[in-house]
Amino acid sequence: MRVFTGITDLYTPFTRVERAALAVREGRVAWVGPAAQLPEPYRAWPHEDLGGRGVVPGLVDSHTHLIWAGSRLEEYALRARGASYAEILEAGGGIHHTTRATQAASEDELFALAQARARTFLRTGVTTLEVKSGYGLEVTHELKMLRVARRLAEAGPQRVVPTLLAHVIPAGWDRAAYLEVFTTELIPEVAREGLAEAVDVFVDRGAYTLAEAERIWEAALAHGLKVKAHAEQLTRTGAARRVAELGGLSADHLEAATPEDWAALAAHGTVATLLPGATLLLKQPFPDARSIWDAGVTLAVATDHNPGSSPFYNLWLALQLTIALGGLALEEALQAGTANAAQALGHPELGRLEPGSAADFVVVEAPAALEPLYRWGETPIRAVYVGGRRVWG
Ligand code: NIG
Ligand code: FE
Repeated sequence: MRVFTGITDLYTPFTRVERAALAVREGRVAWVGPAAQLPEPYRAWPHEDLGGRGVVPGLVDSHTHLIWAGSRLEEYALRARGASYAEILEAGGGIHHTTRATQAASEDELFALAQARARTFLRTGVTTLEVKSGYGLEVTHELKMLRVARRLAEAGPQRVVPTLLAHVIPAGWDRAAYLEVFTTELIPEVAREGLAEAVDVFVDRGAYTLAEAERIWEAALAHGLKVKAHAEQLTRTGAARRVAELGGLSADHLEAATPEDWAALAAHGTVATLLPGATLLLKQPFPDARSIWDAGVTLAVATDHNPGSSPFYNLWLALQLTIALGGLALEEALQAGTANAAQALGHPELGRLEPGSAADFVVVEAPAALEPLYRWGETPIRAVYVGGRRVWG
């Protein structure tokens, strides 16, 4: 047990507390509020003075493809000269390129690559990472990726939420045959070994059709896994609405979503996750985050870290872009990268500093807790705590 003091400014993120104290017991928040009102029993606990700094909940990056090998620098350069992402994908490059490199890499190699990336995220205050499979495609390689995710979780210090991703049909496979293997072999095995909490489907041109996705989601739900979608990214398919109707955790991307899609997400409490990196790199119009938020949708923002559409390593930058281009207020952006992102993972105990929630927090290297949203290209973080334990800084 410990009481953190010397906090000038704290966001829960739903409310702001000035001159705050934060009491932590067994990795969870026991009490948070104005230091002057710290209840008697906590005053006798050991104190740790944070030195007059701001505190925000640990960031939650709710959409990453952290595990991959190889490089897509060449494709990045081609796309900068006007080549199309969908055409490269359909010609056997893009995701298929990363699949070849990821299949060729050993579990140890993938672990080392992903762990180094997770460290980069840790330094910016990301305490929870969702990590998807999807570059293995063949059953053994998908399982290899999810075992790497499990090792990341065991190694810590961040929390890792693993997701099985139905990304594309692998080269050389008959669609129906692959779908059969995915739903009757891979999903049951992943559920049996507890290797993922959810199943995500990329529903789009060059990937899965909505009808195929429905079969995958049904199999996932039948095995007790949650569902989510890469939806309405390059083309509108109706995936956002369908995954919402199925009680899905989140629909992500959504550049081509319509007002009916926003209404369906709001009605079913499915989180809409914006991924500014992919939006901008694929030269798509930036979603109007302001009106989506005002329509009652729970909005999250994530990096979509991946080697192709979003080689993105800093969630604060994604939040800044959503403020600048999507019209969110700073406090809303913070919520989108913490509590709302945690909701997109089905982990409401994360991404917030309230009694009972996980004591994951970031000490900002400034008195104002929102300072990292203000500085572009530099993230002023002094220390990072997971479960009340200092893990960085
Ligand atoms: O979230 N949209 C599909 N999947 C990834 C891109 C993966 C890649 O290009 O390697 C995404 O953007
Ligand atoms: Fe993605």
